[in-house]
Amino acid sequence: MIIEKKERIQNFLKVFLPTLTNAHQYTIAHQLTVSSIETAHAQLLEAIGNDLTLFMKIVEGRVVIDEEPLEDSIYVNRFIQFFKKRAIQYVRFSYDTPQDEFTSFVAMLTVGPTLSEDTAIFPHIQYGKVGLGFKTDDDEENEIDESEKWRDEEAESAREAEQNRKIAQIKQYFTDIQEKDIGIMENVYEAVKKRKSLPDRDIRDAVTDIVTAIKQGSSVLLAFSPLRTLDEYTFTHSTNVCILTLAQAMALNIKEDMLHDIGVAALLHDVGKMFIPEEILNKQGKLTDDEFEQIKLHPQKGAEYLIDKPGIPPLAIVAAYEHHMQFNFSGYPKVSANWRQNICSQMTTISDYFDACRTKRIYRDSIETNIIMDQMSKAGGVTLNPVLAKNFLFLLKKLFEAQQS
Ligand SMILES: [Fe+2]
Ligand SMILES: [Fe+2]
Repeated sequence: MIIEKKERIQNFLKVFLPTLTNAHQYTIAHQLTVSSIETAHAQLLEAIGNDLTLFMKIVEGRVVIDEEPLEDSIYVNRFIQFFKKRAIQYVRFSYDTPQDEFTSFVAMLTVGPTLSEDTAIFPHIQYGKVGLGFKTDDDEENEIDESEKWRDEEAESAREAEQNRKIAQIKQYFTDIQEKDIGIMENVYEAVKKRKSLPDRDIRDAVTDIVTAIKQGSSVLLAFSPLRTLDEYTFTHSTNVCILTLAQAMALNIKEDMLHDIGVAALLHDVGKMFIPEEILNKQGKLTDDEFEQIKLHPQKGAEYLIDKPGIPPLAIVAAYEHHMQFNFSGYPKVSANWRQNICSQMTTISDYFDACRTKRIYRDSIETNIIMDQMSKAGGVTLNPVLAKNFLFLLKKLFEAQQS
């Protein structure tokens, strides 16, 4: 290997390792992470140069490229430590690795699960453990003869296993993101209660994380996000509604630059509940008419609260105000006859409906998904926008098919 290439690889590692640290310490959407990902990606392409791939493997405590070890350096050592911790012993980047795939790869390494098995879930980036005909530190007995070819059937079952691992990893990835977002929502509600300024930056970062995750996981996300039954209902509910609403918007091919506002709006749709007495919100059993009247004020109170908050998109005010209005205006608040509901509010209503039914509340069990789907399809054109309800049910159907296949 020519010296110049080795240098380019060292330069890549010099920015790649700090990128992983930034993503781990802050979030994938944090400005620091975003700019270091950009630089690392550029350095990666630089390191690949005119080759088809950059294939780095860890052999006997060294990073080996084209059968030649790289010189020891602080970044080479950190690379080895980082990847060994995740049981990864080789990474292969293709010359045409797009930046967003590289971003997702970084996100998965740092936000996502500990990787315990070899897998290849990105089209341009392969990584994994053992089995490519070289000796590794932990798996010497796993040496595989390069000339040995998999038969078709074996390749097929390997693909299936890989698919299952991919689903498991994405689920874990979402769970991790959701845990983090619940924390952000706790801070949001704390800020509202104490009349402090909203952490609008964190809110945006949370939405970016979810958008990135949905891009990776497509319909898989629906498998678990509404199934959680934590006590912190309001926080989980907010993040669930955000995930479900973004999934709807992305299925409708809504433009990328609108997604953030939609996500923020969905995340904050119930912020007005902070102005309703807790004993009413958490009451077990039936609400009195007067108590229900108070609950019905949360859309208006939420909109009033958000109206002058810096960094909050106007769409969030609209969705907070309209999310209980219903398609046929049978909900609340009541508005004039020529009112036009925003599509974001209507998507939020659908996610809200689904999540409220799926979440186990104190006073009743969660309703089976097929019963909810049935109810939702009947509600299409009545309380729910029929086109959006159809889009949502289609998303759910795709999920079940994916789960059963
Ligand atoms: Fe609400
Ligand atoms: Fe809600």
